[in-house]
Amino acid sequence: MGKPTFYITTPIYYPNDRLHIGHAYTTVAADAMARYKRLRGYDVFFLTGTDEHGQKIQTRAAQAGLAPKPFLDPIIEWIQGLWKKLNISYDDFIRTTEQRHTKVVEDIFEKLLKKGDIYLSEYEGWYCTPDESFWLERELKDGKCPECGREVQFVREESYFFRMSKYVDRLVQYYEENPGFIEPIGRKTEMLKNFIEPGLQDLCVSRTSFDWGVHVKSDPKHVVYVWLDALTNYITAIGYGSDDPQKRAQFEHYWPADVHVVGKDIVRFHSIYWPIILMALDLPLPKKVYGHGFFLAKGGKMSKSKGNVIDPLQLVDRYGRDAFRYFLLREVPFGQDGIFTPEGLVERLNYDLANDFGNLIHRTVAMLTRFNDGVVPAPGQRQAVDEALQQVAADAQKAVEEAMDAMQFSVALAELWTLVRRANKYIDECQPWKLHKEGETERLHTVLYNMVEAIRLATIMVQPFMTDAPVAIAKQFGWSGDAFSWTSLSFGEGPNGQKVTEEKPLFPRLDVEKEIEALEEMTGAKALQNTEDAGKDKEAAKSEAKPGKAQIGIDTFDQVELRVGQIKTAAKVEGADKLLQFQVDLGFETRQIVSGIAKYFTPEELVGKKVIVVANLKPVKLRGVESQGMILAASEGDTLTLATVPDTMPNGAIVK
Ligand code: MSP
Repeated sequence: MGKPTFYITTPIYYPNDRLHIGHAYTTVAADAMARYKRLRGYDVFFLTGTDEHGQKIQTRAAQAGLAPKPFLDPIIEWIQGLWKKLNISYDDFIRTTEQRHTKVVEDIFEKLLKKGDIYLSEYEGWYCTPDESFWLERELKDGKCPECGREVQFVREESYFFRMSKYVDRLVQYYEENPGFIEPIGRKTEMLKNFIEPGLQDLCVSRTSFDWGVHVKSDPKHVVYVWLDALTNYITAIGYGSDDPQKRAQFEHYWPADVHVVGKDIVRFHSIYWPIILMALDLPLPKKVYGHGFFLAKGGKMSKSKGNVIDPLQLVDRYGRDAFRYFLLREVPFGQDGIFTPEGLVERLNYDLANDFGNLIHRTVAMLTRFNDGVVPAPGQRQAVDEALQQVAADAQKAVEEAMDAMQFSVALAELWTLVRRANKYIDECQPWKLHKEGETERLHTVLYNMVEAIRLATIMVQPFMTDAPVAIAKQFGWSGDAFSWTSLSFGEGPNGQKVTEEKPLFPRLDVEKEIEALEEMTGAKALQNTEDAGKDKEAAKSEAKPGKAQIGIDTFDQVELRVGQIKTAAKVEGADKLLQFQVDLGFETRQIVSGIAKYFTPEELVGKKVIVVANLKPVKLRGVESQGMILAASEGDTLTLATVPDTMPNGAIVK
């Protein structure tokens, strides 16, 4: 028996001049998953590429005075350079202009024509060129593209159509039989409600008004619709329809895909049109389409016109790719939208990387050097505190695996950090410096060894996310091969006797003010603020007479993190009549929150309620009990109601 296979894809990217951090997000997430599966022993195939046909590219190339291909080549090179810089471990990069792809697209079109699934008719309707998508009159929003809000054009031309309607019942059945096909689950509801229940229209799959694309072999004035062309990359890249038997064997080996990782804007194409195309080709359907959320910037969606596009290269140059990758995947629960803020980035890098992980390594190496000539000692007898650390490591491993299998990257990292933080606490509790001073050598050796073990386990598990630090740490501590593999995650399996070297800190602490200033400059937030400020002055003048607090800009509001939470437990706070204390599930972690609402509710009636939590409040102690956030409520006179959301909204969802 060979290894189990795992075929994972990113969307193929439009060759925009510059990809931003939102684009990088899809690819970094898919890379983390691919790396994780490799570590778990899978035979992984990870595909990415570029989507190079269509009217938009033809126009842009013409504007640049070039034929499409020479226009595209340097852009594709730039994109490949970006992935290299982010250490994206793809196995293949497909360009839809390659012959291995175009030839098969031609054949697929002919096959479906012959089968009667594609027929000739006339298209009359709206087209959004930037998104390359067709819309019905009723689907437009204020006469504009409902997806991106841009202008649409009216199009009337002879076109080929794909008989989507023929397959829709089978598609719905597939959804029912495979509840994990579209994730997160809310996106499936969206597909059913917005596109399938109103009646799925046949899809226009060819255009005649431009030239840049794969031509229909039997009717060459038609160019194959870019989405039909693009989606098939997932099978052409791995050898479907190839003349080479080895390539065809590769297709049989990896297909169906285990997961297509895509942004929420293109879930429709991947979970409706793509499976139907595959059904028409009599091919098995992918196991999962994961539609992640959007990374937004101050000012909302990133766009050139707003001047808030965040360049991943600049961030990588300043902070390193490990920090960048860590931030993207830790900051936002996968599936939800998140906002990039300079403060968020600097805090993550300072708290999680410099204070927690970096410091753990730094302290451990320093103590090994001072107390044992840099040599990792053999452990002696265990005590309860050692067992407790070992238990945290075992629990963290289980939780990381569960979270990774569910593609919950932020949860996996949060769980992994419970081990990192516990290890720091272990050092504080065991006080190796005191053991050294008092000559308790056997105990000192056990503690030092356990510190190293905690780092070894954390470093093995952080490998899907960071690609440079784990290599450096393993080298520094002398781990390789079996001692540095997922199968060696048990505490105590690490070697001893090797000499550890002192190195520069991997994650230096950042000067908060300086970095925020630099990031605001870099991300255009400054410029945005200035225009907002100018607008604010005018607004402020208008609204002087209104009651309430002074107006704030969206950037100030953005600093407040509101999330959906679910009350898991509720209890009175001893000795405090007004206070209730709750454990609130925020999806990625559970928080203890104390609230002065005991006079309005009994604890029991609140358990299970979905509430809105201010999630980034600094913790405070109320009557000696720590409160890590605040629950929102509306009050008027003697009545008070909690602000709630429907039960269908997942824990951790952002409220804004
Ligand atoms: N070419 C199509 C995909 C064809 S796949 C058969 C396309 N390309 S894209 O370049 O516009 O987008 C590539 C990926 O980046 C998509 O998954 C998209 O959702 C994602 N993102 C683009 N902007 C984004 C954010 N601001 N945040 C997160 N992801 C975003 O669509």
